[in-house]
Amino acid sequence: MINDLVLINDWYIVAAARDLNDVTPLAVRLWDEELVVWRSGDEVIAWRDYCVHRGAKLSPGEVKEGTLVCPYHGWRYGPSGACTLIPAHPEIQPPAKARALAYKAVESDGYIWVSLGEPKREPANFPEFSNEDYRKLLVGPYNYHGNPFRTVENFLDVAHFPFVHANINGDPDAPEPIGEYEVFRDDGGLRTGPIPRFQPFGDHRGIPVTAHYKYNCPRPLSAYFSKDTGEGHRFCTFMAVTPLAENDCLLWVQIAINYGHDLSEPQILERQDAVYNQDKPIIESQRPHPL
Ligand code: FES
Ligand SMILES: [Fe+2]
Repeated sequence: MINDLVLINDWYIVAAARDLNDVTPLAVRLWDEELVVWRSGDEVIAWRDYCVHRGAKLSPGEVKEGTLVCPYHGWRYGPSGACTLIPAHPEIQPPAKARALAYKAVESDGYIWVSLGEPKREPANFPEFSNEDYRKLLVGPYNYHGNPFRTVENFLDVAHFPFVHANINGDPDAPEPIGEYEVFRDDGGLRTGPIPRFQPFGDHRGIPVTAHYKYNCPRPLSAYFSKDTGEGHRFCTFMAVTPLAENDCLLWVQIAINYGHDLSEPQILERQDAVYNQDKPIIESQRPHPL
């Protein structure tokens, strides 16, 4: 478990909202902690994946009548975490200490987010999520057996394009120098001004473009870019890294595009998979693992 309060108090994606139904809890992991997430009505709930009775995991259980039922002896836990029923002794009021360890959980921008601490803000948001001019797609998640911070660093790094994404995001025989660009800091974190990059296969249309990237890093483990390729075409990517352990993470990606609506979802996702799977072995190879 980490001991950095900024990181403990932040939000992390543990699931896509579409993957969490009303019946089946999900087993997820965050900073070495095994968690169970489930829905009770409109509420999203995240607990330590642990039944205080005999220590069984709760995640293989099921949701019944707004409670989570432990798969071992059927203890039921209500949304507050309190045990509401012990089936072997239905006549007794469960003791106060019979309760699950609850964490903060919320649904936002298509994801289930959890904080292990006391979050001071809302989860990082994807600016285009509610903009109907943009087609949104969930991408990944990708599991990198590498450091979460190095994963964010890689997302913000344009110098690797011609080499790691050769002939897609850059030309390895003519790597472009990087000129000066502006960096700002505001309530939304760090932002850059536009950074121009020539790209032989700049997006899912498979055509050469000169893209102007603007980056934003709103939180230590969340990042965003908008990529302007002219004629009002914008390709935006929101990424949030969920640390599973010190050197193991899930990379959640969502894209928003306001052009190329005739292209199919598999066409778009194929290019995304190609690029993120090119980054993966590089990040996993970096030493030392921590930044
Ligand atoms: S271990 Fe969960 S009810 Fe017994
Ligand atoms: Fe990359």
